[in-house]
Order: sequence, then structure tokens, then C-alpha cells
Amino acid sequence: MKVPKLAVVMALFVMHVYAQLSPTADDVIDMTYLLTPETLHWPGLTGFNYTRISRGPVNMAAGWFEDNDFCGQEHQGTHMDAPAHFSKGKWRLHDIPPHRFFGPAVRIDISSQTAQNNEYNLKVEDVQKWEKENGPIPDNSILFIYTGWGKHHDNRTAYYGYGSADSWLDANGNPLLHFPAVSEDAAKWISSNKKIAGIGTDGPSVGPSKTMMAHVPLLEKNIFSLESVANLDKLATTGDAVAALPVNVKDGSGAPVRIVAFKKAQFKPGPDDVIDLTYALSNETVMWPGRNPFQLFVLDRGLVNLGNNTVWLEQNRFCTPEHAGTHLDAPAHFIKGSWRTHDIPAHTLIGPAVRVDMSKKAENNSDAVLTVQDLEEWEKENGRIPDNAMVFLHTGWGKFFTDFEKYLGSTNRTNWLNDEGQPLVHYPGFSEAAAKWLVNNRNINGIGSDTISYDAGQTTSFPAHVAFLGAKKLALENVANLDKLPNTGTTAFVFHMLYKDGSGAPTRVVAIKNSAITAGQVSSGVDIRPMFVALMMPFFLIFFRCI
Ligand SMILES: *[C@@H]1O[C@H](CO)[C@@H](O)[C@H](O)[C@H]1NC(C)=O
Ligand SMILES: *[C@@H]1O[C@H](CO)[C@@H](O)[C@H](O)[C@H]1NC(C)=O
Ligand SMILES: *[C@@H]1O[C@H](CO)[C@@H](O)[C@H](O)[C@H]1NC(C)=O
Ligand SMILES: *[C@@H]1O[C@H](CO)[C@@H](O)[C@H](O)[C@H]1NC(C)=O
Ligand SMILES: *[C@@H]1O[C@H](CO)[C@@H](O)[C@H](O)[C@H]1NC(C)=O
Ligand SMILES: *[C@@H]1O[C@H](CO)[C@@H](O)[C@H](O)[C@H]1NC(C)=O
Repeated sequence: MKVPKLAVVMALFVMHVYAQLSPTADDVIDMTYLLTPETLHWPGLTGFNYTRISRGPVNMAAGWFEDNDFCGQEHQGTHMDAPAHFSKGKWRLHDIPPHRFFGPAVRIDISSQTAQNNEYNLKVEDVQKWEKENGPIPDNSILFIYTGWGKHHDNRTAYYGYGSADSWLDANGNPLLHFPAVSEDAAKWISSNKKIAGIGTDGPSVGPSKTMMAHVPLLEKNIFSLESVANLDKLATTGDAVAALPVNVKDGSGAPVRIVAFKKAQFKPGPDDVIDLTYALSNETVMWPGRNPFQLFVLDRGLVNLGNNTVWLEQNRFCTPEHAGTHLDAPAHFIKGSWRTHDIPAHTLIGPAVRVDMSKKAENNSDAVLTVQDLEEWEKENGRIPDNAMVFLHTGWGKFFTDFEKYLGSTNRTNWLNDEGQPLVHYPGFSEAAAKWLVNNRNINGIGSDTISYDAGQTTSFPAHVAFLGAKKLALENVANLDKLPNTGTTAFVFHMLYKDGSGAPTRVVAIKNSAITAGQVSSGVDIRPMFVALMMPFFLIFFRCI
């Protein structure tokens, strides 16, 4: 009797190991609103804006260059509230362990109640009724409250229940807003009885609009909240998986977040299954010579009065170049008329991660480049680079990230070229031939490197930029922790901040071990796992009968 059980365990183990995610457009729901200067912002705060640095022809690379700076609100558009937003001493944005960003998605629908009452707040009974019908809310899930408010997302009067963009509090500090959200009782009940990682809503806030006090019990338990979540009408009641990856702002009380739900996958990562490939952005983040710094501006960090309550409140805004810290280059950065940030299809942001290690080669040569031969040797050892892969180039430069002079290989903080037009900067990168080989011979989603540019420092023609961006590949710079990424066996999530017309964007890049994913399909599009398991079953049975 024991033998078949063991065989089943073995079979499940085999299924697990081979789950590698490579979704199609139909497999994902992007639950993120596109952020624009017109996106509504909380009354009394200022909104997202950007400043064009360059958009036009240049005498360089493919002859075109786009770049912007922008200023953002932590709590605008689709965003995450970190526990520290309303709870002193709890996790700020960069403290949240990244495995909590992945889990089962659960949806509770209160849209019929809110159609009758625009200030209906989720009740304890609503949650209990849901559990009676669907079973207990799984541990580590992200719970979404579908209020139906998404349809008002562009109308300030309807969305906030208040038409003014000025202060949201009356003279006595009482909120003037009216929208559906979560009741304080439900927030207390959920935070004491459920082990969820986060709670989200399609309304402007978990509220409730009269007091905001639902935040406190949730955030005190380190449960993050997701606000202004898009497309909740498309999410299943149960059975979908979700990844919610915020921009990594050091000491942030929140941040813009990219939320994607998956129809054919489940994630169960523990802390050791996740490698965060993202640096936290701060005033100290090393920038390209001559570029503006990232700047975090503290708006509140202390006790404030909200109506009858005194609460801890943290919030900040930030201004930054698009190409700061761990970030994505959109094809339009170098290619006229090509994709800007909002044109990139969401399902291409997920795929098998491979790491190509050239750190030995670069150890004593900061001008070293990755060659086609290096890639061929890599494939001899590790197998063919899979379809839809993200190829990460590990040069070893990550260890210099906090030291401008070592990271850039130059002491000049304002110019990267000398007066003769020769590059002052030195760091390794892709050769032109290797970049072209990957584009022409392998079906990759994109690439990334642990340097400030995936082209080596000593080029002025940026051949890797031209090759990758010309082929509409994702291209990442300043990728963190590549020393910790195994060569194969993980899946990368490359969730860039979603705003309109960006030439690039801050990006949360996270790899999770394939053993923490169960997927309905593998990257080939044909799922051979059940067949494999069926074929192997007799051997398992024989094997266990023998011992
Ligand atoms: C963007 O917002 C910041 C902060 O409110 C402000 O200082 C800056 O002038 C604004 N920029 C533009 C282009 O409106
Ligand atoms: C916005 O919403 C308000 C309140 O529901 C409504 O009166 C108004 O007509 C809406 N405006 C537009 C442009 O739809
Ligand atoms: C970041 O730099 C800006 C500009 O110097 C400054 O106003 C701001 O306070 C700094 N932020 C932090 C967190 O030090
Ligand atoms: C605040 O307290 C006053 C006096 O007890 C009460 O009348 C009022 O309803 C309270 N406000 C809220 C939003 O609970
Ligand atoms: C780099 O130089 C150091 C010091 O000379 C030497 O010990 C090391 O072996 C060299 N590394 C490689 C990969 O050649
Ligand atoms: C940086 O390079 C520029 C261009 O060659 C030069 O004018 C400037 O003096 C340099 N700055 C420093 C600190 O070396």
C-alpha cells in the first residue's frame, strides 16, 4: 500500500520541477491602469508629470533618442500601500519580502451592494458568505474587493465622491469623500483571522471613505494594500494567481505597482524561492554621468489627525530620470516610431530566466565583451536558451553598484565622453555579434545586465542597444543580485512601471524558482509533463517495489 503513494509523491515532484511559466496574451490579465499626467490623484496632492529631456534625431547609434524625467506620487494610479503608510515601524516598501508579492488571487464581489449604496463597505458577513460558497481564503493570497468603481476611474466626482482636487478634509479634519471600500470591522476580522499577504480594491482606497481606519489593522499586520486596481471584473472568484510588483522605492510608504493575474498558473514561493533582481531607488542611486539624481521628498512622516482619530501617516513623492536604478529601456529609447513603455505587451514580461556568467572573463578586464562563442559554450553546458527567455548577463559589476567611480570606470560625473569624443567609461557588456546572434537565432523576450548599460563602456555606436531595441526586446540595466541567480531553473517577472509614452521605466525584476510555480503549460506550448509522469509511473512502481 505504501508503494503507490510514494510513486504519486515522486510524480508530483516531477511535475513541480518542470513548471516554467511562459504565458500567452490570453493567459494574463493586466490589472494596472496606465498612468498619465491626467490620471486622478488624491485630493490635495500633486499628480504624475514628466519633462522631456530628448525626443528626436541624434548623431548616434540608430539616429534617434528619447528620454524623460518624471515626478510621481507614491499613492497615485494603481499603487501599493506599504505597511508603514499607516503603521509606525512596520515595513516600508523596500522591507516587504518579495515572496509576498506572489500568490493565489481571490475576488469578493460587492458590486451589487455598491450599486445601491455608494458608501457600502465590505462587511465581515460578506467574507464569511464568500468562504461558505468557495472554501477558506487560502493562506498567502491577495484578496481583491470588487466594488465596480473601476468604471468611474476617470471621473473625479464619481470616483472619489468629491469633485474638488483640493483638500479632502473639512475644517474639523473629517474626510469629505464618498466611495465604497472595506469596513473597519471587516479589516479587523480579516487581519486577525486570515493569513493573506495583501488586500486590493478597484476603488481609490481601502478606506473607508469616512475615516480611512481600515488601513490600520491591515497594515499593522504587515498586510499591504493595493488601490485603484484595474480590470477586477475580469478576475475569477478563485483559481487565478497574481503577481503584484511595486517599484522598489527605498523608505517608500507605497509605490506604483504592476499587477498581473495569471489564468493558468499557481505560485507558492517561500522566502528562499525568490531572488529580487532589483535595487531600491534612493537619493544615493548612481546615475549616468550628468543625469539628474533620484529624489525622494517626504510629505508626511508622523502623527496626523483624521477626524476623530490620530494616526501615524507616512507619504512621499519622488522625481527621477526614467533610466534610473534597475530599469527597462523601451524600444523607443533608441528607435524612432517604436514601442514606448505603454506599447509593450504584458505577457512578454514573464519568461524563463537564464544567466550567462562572464564574471571571470571581466574580472581583470573592464572592457571585456560577451562573444557568440561564450553563448555557444553556455548552451553546451546548460542546454538551448529557451523560447521567451530573459537572458541576464552577469559581469560581476553588481558589487560596485554603490561606488560611482568603480561602477562607471570613470571619475567624471558630468560627461561620459572626453573632448575628443572618446568614452571615459569602462564596464563589460554584450558584443555586437553576440547581441545580433541572440536576436537572430533565439526567440528571447529580452536581456538584462548588472552594469549601467548592456553595451560595453568603450562603444560610441551602442550596437547592443540597436540590436535588442531594434528587435523590440526588453532590455534591462542595473539588474541586482545576478551573483545569486542560478544559470537555469527560474522564471523572471519584469514588471516595469506602466506610464504613457515612457522611453523606459523603473522596473521590479524578480526571479522565482520554477519549483515554486505550477503552470498549466510549458514554454513550448505543449505540456508533456502529464505524459512523462504517466510513462514513468511503472518504473517508479517497480523501483519502490524492489526496495
Ligand atoms: C512636476 O511636479 C513637480 C512637483 O510637484 C514640480 O516641481 C514640477 O515643476 C512639475 N513638472 C512639470 C513639468 O510640470
Ligand atoms: C461624473 O460623475 C458625476 C457624478 O456621478 C456625474 O454627475 C457626471 O455627469 C460625470 N461626468 C462625466 C463627464 O461623465
Ligand atoms: C533627496 O534629495 C532632495 C534634494 O536634495 C531632498 O530635498 C530630499 O530631502 C532628499 N531625500 C531624502 C530622503 O534624503
Ligand atoms: C466623531 O465624533 C463625534 C462626537 O463623538 C461624532 O458625532 C461623529 O460621528 C464622529 N465622526 C465619525 C466620522 O465617526
Ligand atoms: C585577475 O588578477 C588577479 C591578480 O593578478 C589574479 O589573482 C586572478 O587570477 C586574475 N583573474 C583571472 C580570471 O585571470
Ligand atoms: C569631464 O569631462 C569633460 C569633457 O571632457 C571635461 O570638460 C570636464 O572637465 C571633466 N570633468 C572632470 C571633473 O574631469
